[in-house]
Amino acid sequence: MLTPDGKLIFALAALAVVAACAPETREPDVSAAEGERLYFQKCAACHGNDGTGAGVASLGLGGPPPDLTTLAARNDDTFPETFVMSVIDGFNRRDHPSSAMPEFGNEDLGPIVQVEEDGVSTPIPSDLIALSAYLESIQR
Ligand code: HEC
Repeated sequence: MLTPDGKLIFALAALAVVAACAPETREPDVSAAEGERLYFQKCAACHGNDGTGAGVASLGLGGPPPDLTTLAARNDDTFPETFVMSVIDGFNRRDHPSSAMPEFGNEDLGPIVQVEEDGVSTPIPSDLIALSAYLESIQR
C-alpha cells in the first residue's frame, strides 16, 4: 500500500498483530460497577447479596462474617479502605472463629495501578480498588 500514509498503516497493522499474539492483558477497571461484578462472583456466597453477612456459604462458618455495610459506621464514619484491601488480599486477618475468609492475594487481582496519596505512589491491583469502591458504595 503506497499511499502517503502507507508506512503508518503498515506500522499500525504490525502493532495489531503483535497485540494479538501477546498474552491476554486486561485493562485496569477500578470502577465500583466492576467491584460489584467481582463481589457477586467471589464474595456474595459468604457475605450475602446485600453485604450483611447472610450468604449461604456462611452457614458452616461458626457464625456469620461481619456486616460489610457497617464498615464505615464501625470506624468513626470513615471507610477503612486500606484495611478492607488488606483483608481481601489476605494480609490482614482478624480473630474469627473460622478464619474462613479466603486470601485472594494468591489469585490474579488484575493489573497493577499506581495510586497517588499524599504524594506517595502505591502499586495496587485493580480488583482490590474496584472491590473497595463497591463496598464503600454500600455503606449505610
Ligand atoms: C468463604 C467465605 C468468605 C468469602 C468467599 C469471602 N469472605 Fe470476607 N470474610 C469472611 C469471614 C469469615 C470474615 C471474618 C474473619 C476475618 O476477618 O478474617 C470475613 C471478613 C471480611 C472483611 C473484614 C470485615 C470486618 O469488619 O472486619 C472484609 C472487608 C471482607 N471479608 C471482604 C470480602 C470480600 C471483598 C470478598 C470477595 C473478594 C470476601 N470477603 C470473600 C468470609 C468470606
